[in-house]
Amino acid sequence: MLKNPSVKYQRFDPVSLPNRRWPSQTITKAPIWCSVDLRDGNQALAVPMNVSQKLDMFDALVKCGFKEIEVGFPSASNTEFSFNRRLIEENRIPDDVTIQCLVQAREDLIEKTVQSLIGAKKVIIHMYNSTSPAQRKYVFGKSKEEIIAVAVKGAQMIKDRLHRLTEGGTHVTLQYSPESFSATEVEFAKEISEAVMDVWQPTPQHKMILNLPDTVEVCMPNVYADQIEWICTNIKNRESLIVSLHTHNDRGTGTAATELGLLAGADRVEGTLFGNGERTGNLDIVQVAMNLYMHGMDPKLDFSDMNGLIQMYERTTGMTVPPRQPYAGELVFTAFSGSHQDAIKKGLSGYEQHNTIWDVPYLTIDPNDIGREYREVIRVNSQSGKGGVAYLLESEFGIELPKDMQREFGPIANDIVDSLGREVSGAELKQMFWKEYIERETPFQLYHFHADGVDGVFTCRCSLVINGKERGVTGKGNGPIAAFADALITDAGAPSFEVTTYREQSLSSGTEAAALAFIQIKTATGKLIWGAGTDTNIELASIKAVLSAVNRAG
Ligand code: KIV
Ligand code: ZN
Repeated sequence: MLKNPSVKYQRFDPVSLPNRRWPSQTITKAPIWCSVDLRDGNQALAVPMNVSQKLDMFDALVKCGFKEIEVGFPSASNTEFSFNRRLIEENRIPDDVTIQCLVQAREDLIEKTVQSLIGAKKVIIHMYNSTSPAQRKYVFGKSKEEIIAVAVKGAQMIKDRLHRLTEGGTHVTLQYSPESFSATEVEFAKEISEAVMDVWQPTPQHKMILNLPDTVEVCMPNVYADQIEWICTNIKNRESLIVSLHTHNDRGTGTAATELGLLAGADRVEGTLFGNGERTGNLDIVQVAMNLYMHGMDPKLDFSDMNGLIQMYERTTGMTVPPRQPYAGELVFTAFSGSHQDAIKKGLSGYEQHNTIWDVPYLTIDPNDIGREYREVIRVNSQSGKGGVAYLLESEFGIELPKDMQREFGPIANDIVDSLGREVSGAELKQMFWKEYIERETPFQLYHFHADGVDGVFTCRCSLVINGKERGVTGKGNGPIAAFADALITDAGAPSFEVTTYREQSLSSGTEAAALAFIQIKTATGKLIWGAGTDTNIELASIKAVLSAVNRAG
């Protein structure tokens, strides 16, 4: 990289817009959406989609609720042309969906495009030509006037052929894009757009779409918003236009540029699922739509089956959705940090109790709304705290560790996870718990237990395996647990202790035991130690829990 980049790169000149209004606007409703997956997205694939892949994606886009879909560039290839014909001839386009086709301002291409659309119910013909100084100079070698002449001629050629569609009952909307708009002088973008308007003569009843592309993202999103507001304010017959945004993501701010562009007065947004498109991609429409949703607005697009949509996208495009892609990525509802996990757990349980407005820390939306599950929310690695460990044991196995026990087991589990150096599953955590508590059978192992109570005094007779040798022991107390503790201390030679906490729960399905007991003991030195035991008999589960604690006390 250069020490002084200014010798090679220059600052982007902002638009002069001293009284800009967009910073104090808010977005209150969804824009008109147009998917350009099948055109702009498709053009950017190493292997473009074939007809059946395009059909697969078209159906998915319709299912999401897109009412305008740019289906291709029919003059560019036979695949594109025959895709249009299949959509139309096989009646695959719902009545409320308009298909859009892109075309350059060239007669042969316009002719082929019109042919490809014959018989459709509703179409948008989208003509573009490039307008920026660099394109004018290097690519076309044309003056501003000559570039305007190209657009006007193309607009006229389309107009002359419209009857071929309208006579057959096709409703046609016309769209013009001054390609590379954001790198074009706003005054020139206005001039060329107005020249096209002069040909197409849009009215408030039959508007045309003026699409203002950020073909290559060359400036900050606030500057793009200024450009949009400038056009919306200065162009003639604004009321006869649907102003449309088409952003790319070269500086990583396609979403911001679109949102600020909406504040600046645009009505419509073009983009793709998950941001597929040339270079860094097109605008990710999912992001803008879900951003509206998380602010309580109906985005008019439905991503309830996000996983299904991702599968379709990966199948048809061969692309993948990065794990941290907003809303869609595999990791976006996953917290690795212990404090995050704890906060999410508390937030989720608060939300479940009150079921009002979503305000769960760290989760912008309820993962359930897009077909994700809460169990994806928390995973355990060495960064996790006790909250995450407890959450997984509870959500996956119904094991509800007492709070104090979470404090004891959390660091034990963390040390093991740390030494493994990787994330662990719920099943692995359960195994750790079993090993630490349930399977602690030395020095004392229970062989047989029996307790009787008379007038509130319980006597227990049991046989234990102590350091490998079987022995019968007895004890007395005001309950079976107290009697067993007495037998351990007075007869089996265990160091003195008292039982301080006892909790039991039944285990739900799929586990080998029906009851799980947790016991906390206090040793003679004041140490608090937990134990746990399972059995189909709840009394035996608690007796095993006492032994587990005593064995752990060592
Ligand atoms: O990015 C772009 O400018 C385009 C146009 C053809 C609209 O895709
Ligand atoms: Zn584009």
